[in-house]
Amino acid sequence: MTKTDTMVKELVDKYGNKRESLLPILQGVYDIEHFVSDEAMVSIARNLDLSSADVYGKSTFYSFLDTVPRGKFVIRVCKTIVCDMHDKNQIVDTLENILKIKVGETTLNRKFSLLYTNCLGWCHKGPAMLVNDDVYTNLTPESIREIITDYKNRD
Ligand code: FES
Repeated sequence: MTKTDTMVKELVDKYGNKRESLLPILQGVYDIEHFVSDEAMVSIARNLDLSSADVYGKSTFYSFLDTVPRGKFVIRVCKTIVCDMHDKNQIVDTLENILKIKVGETTLNRKFSLLYTNCLGWCHKGPAMLVNDDVYTNLTPESIREIITDYKNRD
């Protein structure tokens, strides 16, 4: 049994092998590996008796379930209209300059990935972004620098 099969098997034991278990299992894989690999999708499909296309469809439907490897800290900047009007571009420029990557990319040390996301529900405090599960609002270039410095100092 491969390492991926063992991981999926443990998640199936935990969440069950019904169709409803698919999302928690995908989320579990994501929490462990920070992305959902093709190998994991095939293994999940086998365990849940679903087609790989079903599993792939679900994985790619949820933008939070990446299907390519990401950094340890995944930054998602809201690109929806209210944040856009609140100078989201300046926030993205600052992040790209500090991290030396473009949106969609991951730093060479695999510490940060920079992505866009849709509305986070914090429009009244835009511009907003997530770093993994943590929300940051009322962003300015200065606050971005502080936030990123803090994450750079984390292991
Ligand atoms: S538009 Fe950005 S949080 Fe809603």
